[in-house]
Amino acid sequence: MAPVVVSNVANPAVEFAGKNTVYVMICGIVAASGGLMFGYDIGISGGVTSMDDFLEKFFPEVFLRKHRAKEDNYCKFDNHSLQLFTSSLYLAALLSSFVASKMCSSFGRKPTMQAASLFFLVGVLLNAFAVDLAMLIIGRILLGVGVGFANQAVPLFLSEIAPAKIRGALNILFQLDVTIGILAANVVNYFMAEKHPWGWRAALGIAGVPACILCFGSLLITETPTSLIEREKLDVGRAMLKKIRGVDKVDAEFDELVRASEQARRVKHPFRNLTKRRSRPQLVIAIAMQVFQQFTGINAIMFYAPVLFQTMGFKSNASLLSSLVIGALNVACTVVSVVLVDKVGRRALLLEACVQMVVSQLAIGVILATNLTATNGLDEGLSLAVVLFICLFISGFAWSWGPLGWLIPSEIFPLETRTAGYAFAVSSNMLFTFVIAQAFLSMMCHMRAGIFFFFAVWIVLMCVFVVFLLPETKGIPIDEMTERVWKKHWFWKRFMDEDVAPGQA
Ligand code: BGC
Repeated sequence: MAPVVVSNVANPAVEFAGKNTVYVMICGIVAASGGLMFGYDIGISGGVTSMDDFLEKFFPEVFLRKHRAKEDNYCKFDNHSLQLFTSSLYLAALLSSFVASKMCSSFGRKPTMQAASLFFLVGVLLNAFAVDLAMLIIGRILLGVGVGFANQAVPLFLSEIAPAKIRGALNILFQLDVTIGILAANVVNYFMAEKHPWGWRAALGIAGVPACILCFGSLLITETPTSLIEREKLDVGRAMLKKIRGVDKVDAEFDELVRASEQARRVKHPFRNLTKRRSRPQLVIAIAMQVFQQFTGINAIMFYAPVLFQTMGFKSNASLLSSLVIGALNVACTVVSVVLVDKVGRRALLLEACVQMVVSQLAIGVILATNLTATNGLDEGLSLAVVLFICLFISGFAWSWGPLGWLIPSEIFPLETRTAGYAFAVSSNMLFTFVIAQAFLSMMCHMRAGIFFFFAVWIVLMCVFVVFLLPETKGIPIDEMTERVWKKHWFWKRFMDEDVAPGQA
């Protein structure tokens, strides 16, 4: 494979060489399967919560309301315990990402991924065999812990093992698996909707497959050299570095990692350190990327696509089928991002997508506002137009804010605040996924089509943020960000003026 050359910040004249080895690819593919667990969960909720057998057993009120004639289109699914089913997972993931951050730095990225798969498996069993709402929600909470652990460890793992030149592409394997997980869930929903009365159990139970892939697959992969060196396993760290780079001469990169980890070791309280001025740029950006990602409105569409399509008057199965199309498009357009991210850069993708997404949200809002009343359905032509605008929205999201919401926070922190800082990114994602999952059905009931204009305003804001405040990180080695990115940025450089490492100040 093509050799990769990366410069060294301590001594910019020295360059560290390496190849894109097959072993790195295998590690990347296995670790990314953590994304399958996350994605499957996102995709399965919308389908299961529109299955009658499931609703009748756990949410009889919603079941009755759904089937009552002349129900208000925008309000028929508005039910707090139904929303709690979808969103409890994200609350658990939010809290557990902080525990996972500690585990990542004390024990490594690999055991954190293994723990993720085990929590997830127990959650799957409770869900598939649920006899009452309590069992269902406890199962969801354990799935959430699994997702929190995996989403904390996997993107960091990927960014750390990758050579800088392909870091974007390798990291986006995580998001690619998220989208494959969503698609798989959509396919399962489609077939299981007709299997009465146990279809929903199978749909929830199949989530065990990605967890097993991660659990057994993780036996094959290495710990990241960064984490080994950080935990003072220098010899193993050097050997692993040679193995993943495919060359014997790894001294320059090894020295760089030792320097970064010595600096990191001087920091006793990474979380406290994040409150220091010098951590402000990374923290603000990591949180903003995730908050903005959620305020594109993506999960209003992902979780509730079948519900949304039923709102527009599609029959139950046609609506599941449409979400299948959306799922496939999401995967395909994420591949576009894998190919482009290290070529055109992060900013170009984000900005282009803002335009695409704002147009789609506005168009959907206008069509629904002018045509969908409380009780009618959309005619065929307009329904098709809404589906097309949803596709335009999804494609933009899939090659930009989707993957980059995870990539950028994983590559901008220095080692001493990396796992702690990244925990804020993960938890912000979970918090706002929770907020949207919890609020969307009520917002739709109260704001009606206005909800799409609400998301459009957010997209404009995030575009302005990227233009002024998000620096380009393409191709820059992860431990050189301070010198080459933050100290050079027109705005953020003012936070870099103390020439001491965070934690020492
Ligand atoms: C987001 C999820 C979203 C998914 C869609 C992920 O990056 O975090 O909230 O549902 O992308 O592909």
